[in-house]
Amino acid sequence: MPKSPDLLLTGARLATMAGPGPYGLVDDGALAIRDGLIAWAGAMADLPSDYRNWPKHAVDGCLVTPALIDCHTHTVFAGSRALEFEQRLQGASYAEIAKAGGGILSTVRATRAAGEDALLQAALPRIDAMLAAGAATIEIKSGYGLDIETELAMLRTARRIAAERPVRIRTTFLGAHAVPPDYKGRADAYLTETCLPALEAAHAAGLVDAVDGFCEGIAFSPAQIARVFDAATALGLPVKLHAEQLSNLGGAALAASYRALSADHLEYLDEAGIAAMAGAGAVAVILPGAFYTLRERQAPPIEALRAAGVPMAVATDLNPGSSPLSSLPLAMNMACTLFQMTPEEALLGTTVNAARALGLSDCGRIAPGLRADLAIWEAAHPAELSYLIGGPPLRARLFGGRIC
Ligand code: NIG
Ligand code: FE
Repeated sequence: MPKSPDLLLTGARLATMAGPGPYGLVDDGALAIRDGLIAWAGAMADLPSDYRNWPKHAVDGCLVTPALIDCHTHTVFAGSRALEFEQRLQGASYAEIAKAGGGILSTVRATRAAGEDALLQAALPRIDAMLAAGAATIEIKSGYGLDIETELAMLRTARRIAAERPVRIRTTFLGAHAVPPDYKGRADAYLTETCLPALEAAHAAGLVDAVDGFCEGIAFSPAQIARVFDAATALGLPVKLHAEQLSNLGGAALAASYRALSADHLEYLDEAGIAAMAGAGAVAVILPGAFYTLRERQAPPIEALRAAGVPMAVATDLNPGSSPLSSLPLAMNMACTLFQMTPEEALLGTTVNAARALGLSDCGRIAPGLRADLAIWEAAHPAELSYLIGGPPLRARLFGGRIC
């Protein structure tokens, strides 16, 4: 990345998310940025003289937070599932539509037919919406290819996004998302012949940061997911899992036994799963957009996760089926209103804990030495990010120290 010019942000309230006190709040703050990194952050009154003459950018009356991190998305796909939305409103369930060959498999058909340039062009407006809502780091999963060629094409497309927009992309291999039609009833053969070779090829091409799976009755069993996790572990890749979304198969405990970065969804998570996650230090990624869209009834056990000290992240789960949602502030509002997370937990969930769910330690807080990825909001208090449905206006974003 080209070096960014020295910059001193002044006049803002900082929500550093780095303690002490709620949100790590600093009133009348100043923030010095050099070479794309935070050089200093604190109260203007304490600004060391070295920084006083740096070029200033006043953001009086604004709130500065770490730029948001979306740690669970399926942003690269083709086609639309609007008609399934209509079907669900007429009474069909997500699982029934999936079993009839729609759902994920309908997006697989469209994605296989699209070609990489079309996938990229379809993804960019989604990315633009995510950036306009304050994100700077976005995780993107494969999983709508389910053949070697298209899984790799999805991951390459995701990586190409970072050359087109000021955003950091982390890619997750999700070959174990659904069993493709040509392997119907033969999930293990799909894993042996296609999914695991695709993982090896994608890893060899340098396209994989982590490995995910969908552990569910309509997808893969814990024993099948364990095969994928064994392969990931052999390649030195961290794992995460779609677990306990529609039923409880013990996916979170399985993920924890592989020291997963995270287990995600978790509506049907039980005490044993919570204890396993707490023991492994796995992040619980809460996805209220899918709960809302599928009109689920059972909320994830937020209070028990909180009591067990499991770190919680919040993400959009942006995808064409269960969560056509691109706004992290809206996801934060839903996490508070639907699940009674606190606004501070919601912001920790899209900064500190989202970074952790991606295995990143250089972002998600405002502290010296971390990346200067920042969001500048027209807001007085960080609770407004969750309180306003869709969040307050974003004045600007800094990516690697550059205003954009
Ligand atoms: O996170 N649960 C599985 N995967 C996605 C949905 C994908 C789809 O419906 O296209 C999710 O909700
Ligand atoms: Fe998902």
